[in-house]
Amino acid sequence: MQLDVFTLVPHAFAWLTEQRPLATVLGTELDLRLFSYRDMTPLRAGQVDDEPYGGGAGMVLRVDVVGAALDAVYGGAPDHRVVALTPQGRQLTQDVVEELATEERLTLLSARFEGFDERVVRHLASDAISVGPYVLSNGDLPAMIVLDAVARRLPGAIREESGAYESFSVELEGGLEYPHYTRPAEFRGWKVPDILLSGDHGKIEAWRREQSKLRTPL
Ligand SMILES: C[S@@+](CC[C@H](N)C(=O)[O-])C[C@H]1O[C@@H](n2cnc3c(N)ncnc32)[C@H](O)[C@@H]1O
Repeated sequence: MQLDVFTLVPHAFAWLTEQRPLATVLGTELDLRLFSYRDMTPLRAGQVDDEPYGGGAGMVLRVDVVGAALDAVYGGAPDHRVVALTPQGRQLTQDVVEELATEERLTLLSARFEGFDERVVRHLASDAISVGPYVLSNGDLPAMIVLDAVARRLPGAIREESGAYESFSVELEGGLEYPHYTRPAEFRGWKVPDILLSGDHGKIEAWRREQSKLRTPL
């Protein structure tokens, strides 16, 4: 997959690209490119935003700036999905992640200030996605969330079985994952469930499925 992120702070993504599983697929399954709106703005002195028409607080990311950046990279309107990250978008779920992970090319647009000029969302983007019903200061954390969630679904990112039996997976019928325990077997009187120490894999499997069902809201 080729995944492009348009942002004002490309360097902010450095720490994430050093982390597994993203680092594992980088350069093989994932070609990540980070672009700065400021590098491609047609305006003087790196300007990217402007005051809102009609007045009000804050600055708005200009449509001509985002348009110029997309033109510079794709030579016109991209023929793949372009996702505007906005709290007003479709909520990100594991189903949306799985859907995005099947794309060969994907573009993420991050904004800050008051957000995008509405024409970016309406005309330059194909999708609008929110990472949750709350407002963050900018779209870079949302872009990283999408990037991380998508990257770990790419082949080879994580061991197949850890990806299969996760919260929201088909294998767990969309439910939450069962609880995990590791050594010590007892700590401050808090014991690991006996079944996990029994060595009976059939019973352990059944217990885990039951636990998954119990903790999944109906
Ligand atoms: C301060 S927010 C703008 C909020 C906007 N004025 C509103 O009230 O809907 C600035 C930018 O951060 C990003 N952002 C903030 N919260 C987000 C969320 N929950 N999901 C996705 N992007 C978000 C978006 O790119 C947004 O344009």
